Amino acid sequence: MLTFQLAIFVTVLFVVQKFLCWLTQKPLKYPPGPPSLPFIGNMAVFMTGRAPYHVLKELADQFGSVVSLKMGTGRFVVLSTVEAIREAFVRQSECFAGRPYMYSISLLTRNNCGIAFGDYTPIWKVHRKSCAVAIHRNVRGKNCTSSDVKILQEVEHLIVRLQQKTNQPTDISDDLNLAVLNVICDMTFGQRYEIHDSEYRAILDSANKFTAILQHGDPIDFIPALKIFPSKKLRLVQDVIKTRDAILQKKYEEHVATFDPKNIRDLTDAFLLSMLECTDENGNHELTEDHIVMAMFELFTGGFDSTFKTLKWAVIYLLHNPEVQKRIQDEMEQAIGSRLPTWDDHLKLPYLEATVLETLRSSSYSSLNGPRRTTTDTQLLGYDIPKDSIVVCNLWWVHHDPANWKDPDNFRPEHFINENGEVFQPKAFMAFSLGRRACLGDLLARMEIFLLLGGMLQRFNITAPEEDGLPALEPLPDLIRSPNEYRVVLKNR
Ligand code: HEM
Ligand SMILES: *[C@@H]1O[C@H](CO)[C@@H](O)[C@H](O)[C@H]1NC(C)=O
Ligand SMILES: *[C@@H]1O[C@H](CO)[C@@H](O)[C@H](O)[C@H]1NC(C)=O
Repeated sequence: MLTFQLAIFVTVLFVVQKFLCWLTQKPLKYPPGPPSLPFIGNMAVFMTGRAPYHVLKELADQFGSVVSLKMGTGRFVVLSTVEAIREAFVRQSECFAGRPYMYSISLLTRNNCGIAFGDYTPIWKVHRKSCAVAIHRNVRGKNCTSSDVKILQEVEHLIVRLQQKTNQPTDISDDLNLAVLNVICDMTFGQRYEIHDSEYRAILDSANKFTAILQHGDPIDFIPALKIFPSKKLRLVQDVIKTRDAILQKKYEEHVATFDPKNIRDLTDAFLLSMLECTDENGNHELTEDHIVMAMFELFTGGFDSTFKTLKWAVIYLLHNPEVQKRIQDEMEQAIGSRLPTWDDHLKLPYLEATVLETLRSSSYSSLNGPRRTTTDTQLLGYDIPKDSIVVCNLWWVHHDPANWKDPDNFRPEHFINENGEVFQPKAFMAFSLGRRACLGDLLARMEIFLLLGGMLQRFNITAPEEDGLPALEPLPDLIRSPNEYRVVLKNR
């Protein structure tokens, strides 16, 4: 009898204990990943000298569309399929909208007053919204000169510069660079430069340093106490701040002094207008001078290098695919004659537009999106993802996975043309990322590349110099896919 009671007692105890355990600490099911070492975790994965997106693609082959890595004490999650990325960034957009804190970036952005690196907070939402409105106002030309007019002006200047370089091997990198930089400067604060201008040189130098800051990790970002030691990265940050404050702060102050809400001259005016319009329930302005100067700075840094390098890629692909070049030229001749294309023509020039999209896919300038931070605990495709995980998507692989594209390793504008001959964007096209933090310059960048490329092809045939051969299709193994230097021969048409 006693044994029987004891048996029941033990059983009940066992069941209750199991139940409590289940209630309080249901074991979490993390996404699979390679085994990790104590302290450093899986850090070694990124120390091979190979491009990180290639390494992450192989991990996806081994472990699937959601992979988990450990970095120090933090969790790092990699998404590699359209399904996983859409589930996270679109269907759970708020949960995946944070950004991780980095010391160097917070210094650079006046204590996270920016958009691109700012965490997901109420004031960030106001800031991003007002920035989107300001860009929209400019792109569409609401009470200001529309962006396509400003871009077209740069196309004309570019053609004049290139006309002096025809019929011989020549490097057109600086010319393309100036065109793209002028578009963004004209849009942001209403100024364009000539190639020898010292302010242009200073801006360029600063933009290159900024790209270097983004590319290279530094322990200081995770352990700010290290700032007492000399750091190459912090020195770069100080340089960029100095140039930026000397140039952008001055432009900002000039704009404040001459502001007229009825005449919005550029993005800075549009930001000032948004700042006046955004007030909380007590009528206080929510956005400050720091927010505006940081927005000016980020449009600049976000919009310049990416567009310039994508344009350089476009020329490389055209050198490799002369039939694409010919087809764009024939399309323009039939649809608009021999004048320069405008953005209003884009529906009449589907092959040119598809070429722009195919360039964005094939080159994948941003091989991964900007790192996101999960703002709450969540689940993704059956796996548990804790709050504060860092999440990145392998955009390069989504753009090259044969499951998503007919001929991913070749340049085929047809990837973006449907059976009716119209341009469409397949679900696997993510050059501008998606969700709450998708690129704010998507339309502007597509417009720029369309007009600059179309304008060049309207005036020139572009070939590779015989002595150089065709330029490389593979970049250096960095996170940002930068084309190599090359020369071209331009022939007047
Ligand atoms: C070929 C050109 C461009 C490419 C490939 C590109 C790509 C991207 C990507 C992948 C992101 C990361 C989004 C994420 O974290 O998921 C991004 C963010 C951003 N881009 Fe672009 N971009 C381009 C041009 C531009 C231009 C022209 C501008 C501005 C005028 C711009 C402004 C921004 C800003 C402000 C963000 C931060 C958004 C946020 O964190 O909320 N970009 N871009
Ligand atoms: C443009 O400005 C005029 C006055 O100059 C104003 O009546 C109109 O509402 C403005 N339009 C927009 C879209 O802001
Ligand atoms: C430009 O290229 C096309 C073929 O792609 C050719 O028919 C035409 O003659 C070329 N024009 C010049 C001036 O080289």
